[in-house]
Amino acid sequence: MLRSITAAAILAATAPALAQPQPATVSSPDGTITVAVTTDNDGRAVYSVARRGTAIVAPSRLGFLFTDARKFERNLKIAEVTRASRDETWQQPWGEWRTIRSRHNEMRVRLLETSALARSFDIVFRVQDDGVGFRYEVPAQAGLAQANIAEELTEFNFAEGGTAWWKPAFLWNREEYLYQKTPLSAVGTAATPITVKLASGTHVALHEAALVDYAGMAVMKTEGNGFKAVLTPGAGAPKVVKSGAWTTPWRTLIIADDAPGLYMSHLMLNLNEPNRLGDVSWVKPGKFVGVWWNMIKGEWTWARGPRHGATSANVRRYIDFAAKNGIPGVLVEGWNIGWDGDWFGNGNAMDFARPTEDFDAAGLAAYAKAKGVSLVGHHETGGAASHYERQFDAAFRFAADHGVRAVKTGYVTDAGQIERILDDGRVVREWHEGQWMANHHIRVLEAAARFKVSIDAHEPIKDTGLRRTYPNWMAREGSRGMEYNAWGGKNPPEHEANLVFTRMLEGPMDFTPGVLSLTGQDGSAIESTIAKQLALYVVLYSPLQMAADTPENYARYPAAFQFIRDVVTDWEETRVLNGEVGDYVTIARKDRNSANWFLGAVTDEEARTAPVALDFLEPGRRYAATIYRDGDGADYRSEARHRIAIETRIVRRGERLEVPMAPGGGYAVMLKALR
Ligand code: NOJ
Ligand code: CA
Repeated sequence: MLRSITAAAILAATAPALAQPQPATVSSPDGTITVAVTTDNDGRAVYSVARRGTAIVAPSRLGFLFTDARKFERNLKIAEVTRASRDETWQQPWGEWRTIRSRHNEMRVRLLETSALARSFDIVFRVQDDGVGFRYEVPAQAGLAQANIAEELTEFNFAEGGTAWWKPAFLWNREEYLYQKTPLSAVGTAATPITVKLASGTHVALHEAALVDYAGMAVMKTEGNGFKAVLTPGAGAPKVVKSGAWTTPWRTLIIADDAPGLYMSHLMLNLNEPNRLGDVSWVKPGKFVGVWWNMIKGEWTWARGPRHGATSANVRRYIDFAAKNGIPGVLVEGWNIGWDGDWFGNGNAMDFARPTEDFDAAGLAAYAKAKGVSLVGHHETGGAASHYERQFDAAFRFAADHGVRAVKTGYVTDAGQIERILDDGRVVREWHEGQWMANHHIRVLEAAARFKVSIDAHEPIKDTGLRRTYPNWMAREGSRGMEYNAWGGKNPPEHEANLVFTRMLEGPMDFTPGVLSLTGQDGSAIESTIAKQLALYVVLYSPLQMAADTPENYARYPAAFQFIRDVVTDWEETRVLNGEVGDYVTIARKDRNSANWFLGAVTDEEARTAPVALDFLEPGRRYAATIYRDGDGADYRSEARHRIAIETRIVRRGERLEVPMAPGGGYAVMLKALR
């Protein structure tokens, strides 16, 4: 049962209205975190957050700026405060954890304008022991029949300085920028999540949950350690248009003692609505290979011609390879009509129901089926999102008819250049993270679900935990993946240790690991070791996990490839055992369908050992631990990056594992449960 709530205790109590300026407060169930809401001398609503008595967020303002109506910020008074509590557990159909506990105290504060306009909004806080989510809930009201939002005035004023890991917002390459590490006070305009280590050591990740029918939020540094929300533009003047009663997404702050604590929080998922799709047993996690890396490297083409990648012969070879290695999926890109011209930012020729003449869709689907493999579809829109919507039915029917269970979508075009066709035929340009695209992605999920197809979106909108509501939203890109290692300007060794504590806090990423050849375009060196490539299957979670290298390259590294054959993609449980943002991380995950555990660790450019205690293993049980570690002298800077050592030994709960990692390296372990 998807929505099975194994324990639910919902208590609700109404407190009497408080006289201002007495702050209204709410604490997390264990009392660790406290939120206070009050109004200042100008009648602006302000909130603050403290943890164990220490301020984390100093007083920060709330409100809205409209394109056509008076600002909604001053002359407010607290009219009513209500509280509620919730403690329940629910289950993910697939994920890093099967069972998730959701426990919070809620406070709803009604703010009412004392001016003649007499408009009102509620600000609702949900406070967990590991973080806070809050959103505006605006009731339907005569003074605000339609809200044309120019900007959201929400502030996030950190109470102390620190170090921030962030990437810039609103630049042409969308979410595909490297993370920068700067003093908090030196951040510019940042995409979320932005991760902060405060001077006191407390870690905070600022993001949003349940981005539905609203524009994505970036944050802009104001003064000192202060930030304010900046919404993604829309094609028209207002960034967001709402009418009747409406809510914003949740603004979220995960707060933890250390970096691992950030990853272990379920705040994001808990703030999303339960599964809306009903039975999703057709959503299948799994690994896939694909006709891909040769195109990314420029050796094959998506377009037709002498170097076309998606030929029947090539795809048949990939199907054979997948079947032989127990890999259930084969992605094929460039299989359809539409790639021959300049498709970048121009997807109007894309037809997702018409294969090229050298791709025998029916024959390949039958061949794959006979071998127990299914094709993974590919819909590259080139940003022509309306054109895509017009062929939803044909596209997903074609996919379903050919045994396709998951489709990788793509929106390759510059930020702000998504093509939307209005009802009257006019073309306007939208942003990847704007209100219209937030809705577009949900339309994709709903259309795909009608044909029992799951989605893996590239150049997507940020992840805000909507996989809980739409479990067929399995993965997405939304940061720099492996493809950057094919090109110039490669991902540096610290990239993955940055991702775990920034991008991966959003949810699964289709990073496409496993390039064991460690070689990009024109023989260029990838800044990794082989053991680190293996570790990424555990460290960078995705229910759809690609083995991105070619069959020929895997044939050169059979011993290392064994880990890719063995590793699973659906987990009962996850533990982050240690880590520092951008430096290193070790993660252990338990297979959902066996007693086996897998462990992955990565480091940055520094060699290090990050010992772990195997205290998560079952008491009294023996495990055959096969350790894939950096070979002696391995180093990402030379040919020695290919050195790997593989050994198996018996381990038990309570033992320590001390595996040295090379510069740019890591290690992976399969812990096979014995009787
Ligand atoms: C960018 C995606 O990230 C990549 O995986 C894909 O191959 C190309 N676009 C073409 O769709
Ligand atoms: Ca991309």
